[in-house]
Order: sequence, then C-alpha cells, then structure tokens
Amino acid sequence: MSKKINMDKYFAPDLSQARKRTKKIIEEVQFNLRDAHQKIGFNKTYLIHTYGCQGNEADSETMAGILELMGFIKAISEEESDIIIMNTCAIRENAENRIWGELGRLKAYKRRNPDLILALAGCMAQEENVVKKVLKTYQHVDLIFGTHNIHKIPEYIETAMFAKERVVEVYSTEGEIVENLPKTRNHKFKAWVNIMFGCDEFCTYCIVPYTRGKERSRSKEEVIAEVKELVELGYKEVTLLGQNVNAYGKDKIEDGYTFGDLLRDINKLQIDRIRFTTSHPHDLDKKTMEAIRDCEHVMPFFHLPVQSGSNKVLKKMNRHYTKESYLNVLNQLKEIVPGISVTTDIIVGFPSETEEDFLETLDLVEKADFEGAFTFVFSKREGTPAAKYEDLTPEEDKKQRLYRLNEKVNAGYLRGTTRFLNQTVKVLVDGVSKHNDEVLAGYSEHQKLVNFKGDPSLIGQIVNVKITVAKTWFLLGELVD
Ligand code: SAH
Ligand code: SF4
Ligand code: F3S
Repeated sequence: MSKKINMDKYFAPDLSQARKRTKKIIEEVQFNLRDAHQKIGFNKTYLIHTYGCQGNEADSETMAGILELMGFIKAISEEESDIIIMNTCAIRENAENRIWGELGRLKAYKRRNPDLILALAGCMAQEENVVKKVLKTYQHVDLIFGTHNIHKIPEYIETAMFAKERVVEVYSTEGEIVENLPKTRNHKFKAWVNIMFGCDEFCTYCIVPYTRGKERSRSKEEVIAEVKELVELGYKEVTLLGQNVNAYGKDKIEDGYTFGDLLRDINKLQIDRIRFTTSHPHDLDKKTMEAIRDCEHVMPFFHLPVQSGSNKVLKKMNRHYTKESYLNVLNQLKEIVPGISVTTDIIVGFPSETEEDFLETLDLVEKADFEGAFTFVFSKREGTPAAKYEDLTPEEDKKQRLYRLNEKVNAGYLRGTTRFLNQTVKVLVDGVSKHNDEVLAGYSEHQKLVNFKGDPSLIGQIVNVKITVAKTWFLLGELVD
C-alpha cells in the first residue's frame, strides 16, 4: 500500500525557476535544533550513502551531524538502520543510473521493515523529472529533500515518522546561508570546509547551476572560525570547497576580499595543509597564484578543469576562455609557483565535436603537461542547453576518443610521479594501503599517492618518505627521519 503525500509541505523542483538568478542579498541565519526534535532519534539509527563530489561529502557530514544531534546513532548495516539517506549526484547519466539501481535494491529492506524511512537527497532530488519518476514508480521512497534545505531534516523526519506520510520538499532556488550547522566529520585529521555554494557559470553541458543555485560566498569570519576550530581539534588538512572557488567573494564585490586574501588569512592559522577545489580558469587571478606561492601551508597542487582544447567547442560550452588564454593562465601559474602539479577535467564527444576539435584537445593536453585528468564522455542532462544541441558523433567514436585521450593523460600521470624519484617528500598518512595491511598510504604535498612500510601509529601524522619507485598511479618509498 502506498503512503499519502503530505500536502502541507509539498514542493517539487522546477528547472525554469532554478535557472533564474536574482540580485537578492543572501542573508545568514543560524541553525538551532528545536526542543521537540531533540529526542526523536533516541534508540534509532541512520545510514547515509554519498555519491558525487566533495560538496556532497560535506553535505552528508552535515546531515549526519543533525541526525546525531537528534539522538540517532550511525547504524552498522542497512538491515539495522531506521533511516537510510541517499545523497545523490546528477552530473552524468551513469551516476544517476547507479542510484536507480540502488533504490530498487533497497526496496527489499523496506518490505522487511516497513518503518524504515528511505530518503532521496542531493542533486538528483533537485531535478524535476527525477522527482516525478520517484513519486510514480519508487513508492517506497518516503522522503525527498534537496540541496537547499538540509537544515530542515528534523521537521521532515518528524512528519515521515509520526504522520507516516510521504514528504516531498525541494526548493528550486537557494535560501539563506545557514551557519552553526553541526557536522559529524568522516576523518579525524582531514576536513572539508565550504567557502561558497552554488555556481553561476552555466557551462552549457552542466546541471550544477540548477541543482546548487546561485553562487554565494560564506563570510570570511565563518570560514576562518571553522578552520580555527579544526586546528584546535588537531586537524592537519583542510580542503576549501566550492564549485568555483576562484570566484570567492565576487558576489560581495564591495569589499574586494577574494580567494587570494582568504588563502593568506587561512595560512596564518597554522593548519599544516590547505587545499582547495574546484577552480574555473577564467576567474583564476594573479592574486591567487601569488598567495599560493607565498603561503607555506597552501599545497603546490592545482586542479584546473579545461574541458576541451577546441576554441569552437569551448565557446559552445560557454567556458569564457580559449585554448591560448587557458595555456597563458597555466603558464603564468607555473612561473609564479614553480613545480606546482596541475590536473584537469576533460569532456570528449561534446555535441558537434569533430576529429579536428578532438585533436586540438590532444594537443592542449600535450602542451599543458597535466599530471592527471578526470576524463568523461559528454552526457546529456535534461534542462541544460547542450541537451538540445545536435549530436551526430557515433558513441563508438566517442569511446575511441576517450581511449586515445586517456593514453595521453596516463603518460602525464607517469611523468608527474617520476619527477619525484629519489626525492624525499612529506606524506600525510591516511591509513593502511588497500592492497596490503603492512603498508601505509598517504598523499604528498603535490597530491601523489605514496605507499611505504611503517607502523599504523603514524596514521594522521606527516612523515618524510624517500621515493624509490614511481608508477603511473602511485609512488613507493621508504620512511626516513
Ligand atoms: N565545478 C567544477 C566541477 C564540476 S563537475 C568545475 O567546473 O570544474 C566535474 C566535472 O564533470 C566537470 O569539470 C566536467 O568535466 C564533468 N561534467 C560536468 N557535466 C558533464 C556532462 N554533462 N557530461 C560529461 N561530463 C560532465
Ligand atoms: Fe558546472 Fe561549469 Fe559550474 Fe563547473 S563551472 S559546476 S562545470 S557550470
Ligand atoms: Fe554531482 Fe551535485 Fe556534486 S551533480 S558532482 S553532487 S554538485
């Protein structure tokens, strides 16, 4: 029997609303858990499955924080869980297909435990067609909420649990920036710190500006306070998060405080390692490059998505730069920060991409000397402009292009590891290697995976490792004093 939808709260997303940008000033509000919500989770457990980018990982830590404040504890298995939240990603079709499969699989638990609350959250929940499909064919999903209203989880759970009604509340556009949110972090020495939300770039292939709303920066005071607290808790590394961190502060033009300034201020807090992701080439300025050079705690690693090497394709993607201007920015970065490791994202098979366009991409990869890249075949996202572009390239050709691109990219990975042979690098030890319990694994300052023999008591510390072997995907080394 299917449950009734609670109509008091019913809000489904609307992509034409999500596309809109207003000049509205974004207010800051403080999260507070109401007394009535404090004991709801007593004797109950939760699980959160996270898909997609670091933004989602950070959101899942907030969801966990809220649930734990309500008294829930983390379950040890799906069977024992009273709430399962799927925090989803909508970036490509295959990301979504995985979720559909998972939702189908979870139906069995729901049959065994009708009180289980199954929730769909994250970027897929922001899509009109997804919500329609879930309401119609995935009736075992009890709760749908989006990326803009995570702070309202307590109310939703209360309704889903006690009124036993389906709750659907997805806002098409962003609301206030909510501060004072509790977080249950997944790591003890590495942490995500949001510095901004949303994206205003509207690359024509991308769903993110629709699922995450308008670009809005957190105040520097809040960001700095969060990092300070992490330092006090003994954290060694922070990764500053935003879809386009290089635009930090640009929505608050009046004070001229931008990403480079933020890096310098965070550097003063004595956290060992500062990383950030992701950057848009057209907002990357000299001030940021100089801050990376001058700040000893900002790591010499830069992920700078290029997407394509063809000027025609870049224009159709609405990327606001050319192959030449990208290479200029990149060269300037490498000049200002010598030895910096640069990686990228590339899409092949964008509608109208010809063999010549693709060869331009290969040429750019060669010239840029990337030390790694995430490579993707273009995926149509309903509601984005590119979904309507004529796409005549056969799938097989796209796959071939991806294969040819990856060969070049992999050669770059190997050049990027080989340059550290016989050098001593600093490694933040993450844990034991996935493949061998006696081996420790961690990342160097240049973000290279390093494996070496050592005692597990070193986990969470920064140690010196002399590199003895360089492979495409990792380095091997020996612990030194
Ligand atoms: N804001 C970040 C990351 C966005 S998503 C940035 O701009 O770099 C990560 C990557 O997914 C993008 O850089 C892009 O390469 C890829 N991507 C986004 N939409 C896609 C689509 N529709 N098809 C294929 N790849 C896509
Ligand atoms: Fe998507 Fe472009 Fe924004 Fe990145 S910058 S999230 S690719 S629209
Ligand atoms: Fe995916 Fe949303 Fe991140 S679409 S990549 S989870 S912003």
